[in-house]
Amino acid sequence: MKRSPTTVFSEWAEEGRDEKMAKGHEAAVSNMLDGVLKNYNSYRFIDAGCGNGWVVRLVNKEPNCKSALGVDGSKRMIEKAHRIDPKGAYLHADLMSWIPEKRADIVHSMEVIYYLPNPKEFIQSVYTNWLAKNGRLIVGLDFYMENSSSHSWPDDCGISMMHLLGEKEWIAFFEDAGFQSIQSRRFGAKESWAGTLIVSGIK
Ligand SMILES: C[S@@+](CC[C@H](N)C(=O)[O-])C[C@H]1O[C@@H](n2cnc3c(N)ncnc32)[C@H](O)[C@@H]1O
Repeated sequence: MKRSPTTVFSEWAEEGRDEKMAKGHEAAVSNMLDGVLKNYNSYRFIDAGCGNGWVVRLVNKEPNCKSALGVDGSKRMIEKAHRIDPKGAYLHADLMSWIPEKRADIVHSMEVIYYLPNPKEFIQSVYTNWLAKNGRLIVGLDFYMENSSSHSWPDDCGISMMHLLGEKEWIAFFEDAGFQSIQSRRFGAKESWAGTLIVSGIK
């Protein structure tokens, strides 16, 4: 029987698979951060679906970072983040309902939002409730329609909720939410791998 994303990822954290996952995401995330962080002299950063919090620890080292917060719905992932970095800011919460106390300039999310019950509603909530003016949402996605080698993942990983959408649908979610200067690109494409789909927009 398939299980919820946060149940499966809690198990991954217990088994240490979070570290291998972080390694696998490293190159795409580095490309995402390189394109975004340089646009702000001082910024508040949120990693939506932070896993063990590795991106928060990376961004906290940047001189222009005012604050970095990681949010994840897996209790085990957040416990692990606190264990690795007791002074860091990590929060256990459901991204569909959580709203930050302080608005962010950058909301980053790698390999998360297709697991949410309603990705369109989440993107709208980031626009309306999470971001400061001129703030930016940037998401990285490996599971999408044009990347056919990812289509077996729901069965491979035994995860019940994974929305398989195309690049145009993701861009439309950003447009409908009100984002401006929307960009999409694919990072790291090679034979039988369409690359990480990276979509971003500015409020
Ligand atoms: C593939 S992992 C990616 C983790 C991290 N971004 C990384 O690159 O290592 C997806 C993460 O999304 C989280 N997640 C899934 N659904 C969620 C929800 N509704 N609320 C909060 N987090 C959720 C999972 O717990 C998991 O840690």
